[in-house]
Amino acid sequence: MVQIITFGNFKGGVGKTTNATQVAYELSNRKYKTLLMDLDPQANATNIMLKTKANINDELAHFDSSLMVAIQEKDLTKSIVNITENLDLMGSAPDFSLFPRFMEKMFSDYADRVKYLSTLIQPVAEKYDFVIIDIPPTISLITDTALYASDWCLVVMQTQQQSFDGATAFIDYIQHDIVNTYKAPRLDVIGILTVLIQAGAPVDETTVNNAIKYFGSENILPTAIHSMQRLKRYGITGITFKSKWDKQVFTVYKQVTNEILDRIGVKK
Ligand SMILES: Nc1ncnc2c1ncn2[C@@H]1O[C@H](COP(=O)(O)OP(=O)(O)O)[C@@H](O)[C@H]1O
Ligand SMILES: [Mg+2]
Repeated sequence: MVQIITFGNFKGGVGKTTNATQVAYELSNRKYKTLLMDLDPQANATNIMLKTKANINDELAHFDSSLMVAIQEKDLTKSIVNITENLDLMGSAPDFSLFPRFMEKMFSDYADRVKYLSTLIQPVAEKYDFVIIDIPPTISLITDTALYASDWCLVVMQTQQQSFDGATAFIDYIQHDIVNTYKAPRLDVIGILTVLIQAGAPVDETTVNNAIKYFGSENILPTAIHSMQRLKRYGITGITFKSKWDKQVFTVYKQVTNEILDRIGVKK
């Protein structure tokens, strides 16, 4: 049974894309058939993965069509390319920002718009062990759609007050809107992944403590993602594989991936 996991927070720049791409890569490295689904029109995850592919075998990927066109043609496979063994990418592009307007024309009822993409995602997802979804940072039809289609959400929280607020708002939103109102069939929260992005800044103990008080320590993944220059560089170069700094990144994500698999009940 495929597990569909969205990485979320209603704030940009907190590490959603970075963590989604690294966890997707680590899952594929463990021989799980993995699809990274980029549902952000900014296409950051797409860029990282296309460069990663070029780093591995000097190959450029070719999409049969953009995600938006694939949706219009009711065939998501047209926007999927292979990145490396066991890892595929459903790439995004700026025209995906037209998705809400396209849905408005198709359905008058908002709930129908939220559900529609699921019907296209499900048959594709079933070919994989894991689907990791990267979403834009704003509340929109796109985030609603991703959450509706998911089994799980991992909340990415930077240890800063705004990101804590973004995380609490996000979890309330999942409960009230996605689960209660739209009746998402399977969605559950895995927990909170804390990210300490600012290099050299003291760990924001207050935010971490607030998070523990608010969410309960059992809901916070034990591994925190520290600031790593190499990880920042992957945003420009794609994932690279050769140096000890790459290995350091992979070691952290092996741990995080273990914690995720434990929580969703997948045997390692
Ligand atoms: N642990 C980290 N260490 C250093 N830089 C990071 C880390 N996580 C993310 N970044 C950088 O922070 C920026 C925002 O991260 P990103 O994953 O794009 O956030 P989001 O998808 O939530 O907008 C990017 O430039 C990314 O490379
Ligand atoms: Mg992003």
